[in-house]
Amino acid sequence: MTRLYKNIFILTGAGISAESGLSTFRSENGLWNNHRVEDVATIEAYYRNQDFVHQFYNDMRPELFNAKPNPAHLAITKLQKEYPADNISVVTQNVDTLHEKAGNKNVYHIHGQINQAVCLNCGHILETWGDVDTETVCPHCEVMGMMKPNIVFFGENLLCMDVVERQLRQCDLFISIGTSGVVFPAAGFVQTAKYYGADTMEFTLEATANNYLFDKHIYGKAGETFPKFVEELLSENI
Ligand code: APR
Repeated sequence: MTRLYKNIFILTGAGISAESGLSTFRSENGLWNNHRVEDVATIEAYYRNQDFVHQFYNDMRPELFNAKPNPAHLAITKLQKEYPADNISVVTQNVDTLHEKAGNKNVYHIHGQINQAVCLNCGHILETWGDVDTETVCPHCEVMGMMKPNIVFFGENLLCMDVVERQLRQCDLFISIGTSGVVFPAAGFVQTAKYYGADTMEFTLEATANNYLFDKHIYGKAGETFPKFVEELLSENI
């Protein structure tokens, strides 16, 4: 009989969206094998060539708009609905909105969202699935050309970290789904959760860079392994 968890922290990465047809970053045909991070995912790149950076995210937006959640996303909805925990949070590194499309609650996008742009002049967040470019005018301060994709570039601060740090200290079960464990600070979350006494488990295709920090490893496609885990957890606890 597993313990009854009160606070569950679910960290997700690109792997949870792979079965929805979205590219991961570091697999053979991953985004970073086809594009240089230095050209599309740093603030220096943005200021060096805004048109090129906007084009990269404008090209990505329709694909993410049309993507559908898969059984792994839907299993989180089931867990949040049926498992008797006080809180189940979803902290995602993904900029897609598949967690929301699946009906997940308490979703925190620490690396931003593809359907948002932020005004570097006034900080206003524009919700849009349309193209953003150097002629986009901020609807709040009416300045043109200061709207940046609301994506956290390498070297920039993560979003929602006040909530995330609190949840990490409080969680008693830390679950990681579809992340390679190479990008910090997210790759260090498991260590914090473990330090505060949480059980830790990862769902991924193969061993990850920080897998030594996890108590349990479930290897396979998350769309198959995670729903099965949720069924087991529910059958033991309700
Ligand atoms: N089910 C489970 N895991 C999967 C699946 C799947 N169907 N497909 C791939 N994976 C695993 C891979 O084995 C790998 O460990 O998902 C992981 C994806 O790793 P990355 O491509 O490195 O993506 P991620 O960990 O999300 O990257 C972290 O890096 O580039 C930055 O900001 C970007 O948020 C991103 C961050």
